[in-house]
Amino acid sequence: MPVDVSDAATAVAHPNIALVKYWGKRDERLVLPYTDSLSMTLDVFPTTTSVRLTAAEADEVTLDGRPAQGEALRRVTDFLDLVRQRAGRAERALVDSRNTVPTGAGLASSASGFAALAVASATAYGLRLDARDLSRLARRGSGSAARSIYGGFAVWHAGVAGGQGGGPYDQGGGPYDSDPDPDLASYAEPVPVPVEELDPALVIALLDTGPKSVSSREAMRRTVATSPLYRGWADSSRTDLAEMRRALLRGDLDAVGEIAERNALGMHATMLAARPAVRYLSPATLTVLDAVQQLRRDGVSAHATIDAGPNTKVLCRSSDADRVADAVRAAASCQVLVARCGPGALLHSEVR
Ligand code: PMV
Repeated sequence: MPVDVSDAATAVAHPNIALVKYWGKRDERLVLPYTDSLSMTLDVFPTTTSVRLTAAEADEVTLDGRPAQGEALRRVTDFLDLVRQRAGRAERALVDSRNTVPTGAGLASSASGFAALAVASATAYGLRLDARDLSRLARRGSGSAARSIYGGFAVWHAGVAGGQGGGPYDQGGGPYDSDPDPDLASYAEPVPVPVEELDPALVIALLDTGPKSVSSREAMRRTVATSPLYRGWADSSRTDLAEMRRALLRGDLDAVGEIAERNALGMHATMLAARPAVRYLSPATLTVLDAVQQLRRDGVSAHATIDAGPNTKVLCRSSDADRVADAVRAAASCQVLVARCGPGALLHSEVR
């Protein structure tokens, strides 16, 4: 098939940090989670991804200027296969993706990466998708990417009829099997939040920017299969999500932070109880958690959240961000960055 030079697109997306976490897939192929999750998209660390169709025989993928290989290449080509299948097209693609965040360090590079790839590849292959369908598509690359399609706050529905289901939290069996079409039902959508009233900032402590010791995919698998605490966390996550929505709506940053911190620490507890344990928390993480507690004792609204890596993010008011950043920097002697609410994924032509 002749390749049209217009079959190319560039998209930009930002990472998001979950305040109610996604941890555990009930279907690995479709990337369907056990629980709903809720996040804030950041205004830092964008990923820019270009997709250009080519007459070449194979996809060529460049990540941060270097040819992708192994697992990283396979994840991108599998994703492109999905897009090609939906578009009914066969051309291969040249993909060039540039992160401004260290890849694989638990700083949500896969969220911004697959959100940007979803928007750029859908456009290059001529698929006309609305935000919900883009979110479903991005989900197939990396679950958390479903949420980075949107700016501000987003909730990702697990896709269980009637909201989150109960257990059993193991692969196969249970109430999930009766879902009519869970793939259609599992997408993210924006959460209306009075952002100006809430005025949130996330202070990011860059404690270790190397790749994580265990991939989130493997860590989730192990947690769901072996952690006796998983079910308790997943059940309490449902309450956390409902309370989080209410706290966001009333612009109550204290409550938002409290729920976010307990949800994240609970998620790490499930991992610590996995067999063998998955431990992303480092001594420096605990140092930051101590600093956050001290800030609270000093009257500052500050709460921590931690993903699949030791790097710690502290939710606080924008007006307190400098003070929080100073406290975290002094405690952990690390690089610190202040992020605020960022935009959703956009085609380059739409970026202002
Ligand atoms: O999207 P993944 O497979 O990289 O998983 C991300 C999981 C967490 O970042 C730890 C939590 C979340 O909801 O983003």
